[in-house]
Amino acid sequence: MSTLIQTETQSPLFSEVIRGRRSVRQYDKSVRLSREQIKELLSEATLAPSSSNIQPWRFLIIDTEELKEQLQPIAYNQSQISEAAAVIVVLGDTEGYYKADQIYGEAAVRGYMPEETAKTFAERTKSIYGSLPKEALHKIIYTDGGLVSQQLMLVARAHGYDTVPMGGYDAAKLQAAFEISERYIPIMLIALGKAAKPGHPTTRLPIDDIAYFNEMPAAE
Ligand SMILES: Cc1cc2nc3c(=O)[nH]c(=O)nc-3n(C[C@H](O)[C@H](O)[C@H](O)COP(=O)(O)O)c2cc1C
Repeated sequence: MSTLIQTETQSPLFSEVIRGRRSVRQYDKSVRLSREQIKELLSEATLAPSSSNIQPWRFLIIDTEELKEQLQPIAYNQSQISEAAAVIVVLGDTEGYYKADQIYGEAAVRGYMPEETAKTFAERTKSIYGSLPKEALHKIIYTDGGLVSQQLMLVARAHGYDTVPMGGYDAAKLQAAFEISERYIPIMLIALGKAAKPGHPTTRLPIDDIAYFNEMPAAE
């Protein structure tokens, strides 16, 4: 059963969630999320799709004042790092495909596919991913990492919390400071908490400038 504290009595409409999400850079320092709450948000976020369902995302959750202070200069002193309840380092596991046995095995246990099919899928997945050039593997991992990150931000908003994704950090320093092995690729940081000030409105390109039916325009 969900233990998340809903700020709304009813679940917000999906349109309110996607229109209400904004990058929030000022947080109410008095609002903290429990580790259980953060794990529940992550559980919903990880319902995101991933290539071959390999789910290569991993999350390093920084929720102590001391470690957030350590992270702040690595993220070019962005104030949301220390103000937010937690900062989630979204990582991609370059060896995540080894979990294919566990993933497909569980699907077989649940009756989603026959055991033999699960074994074949797992072997094939490990063989394909294991022989990919580094660049191709990383592209898949970044794509999956982006999908789960966006889902996490929407899930957080749906539960009344705010986020900001951050690419502004020194990845090498992050890996060194938090002893993150090279096996894991940093994808982005996501600050999570409750807004003290709403994110500022932003514009979007008109859809007719970016969407084309059936044929792309010639390059200018
Ligand atoms: C990959 C990525 C990296 C970003 N890096 C930062 C960052 O380092 N610091 C920051 O304040 N905002 C960062 N942003 C937030 C964007 O500025 C923001 O999403 C954009 O201006 C649109 O605003 P909105 O999120 O409120 O719709 C980043 C967004 C993305 C998707």
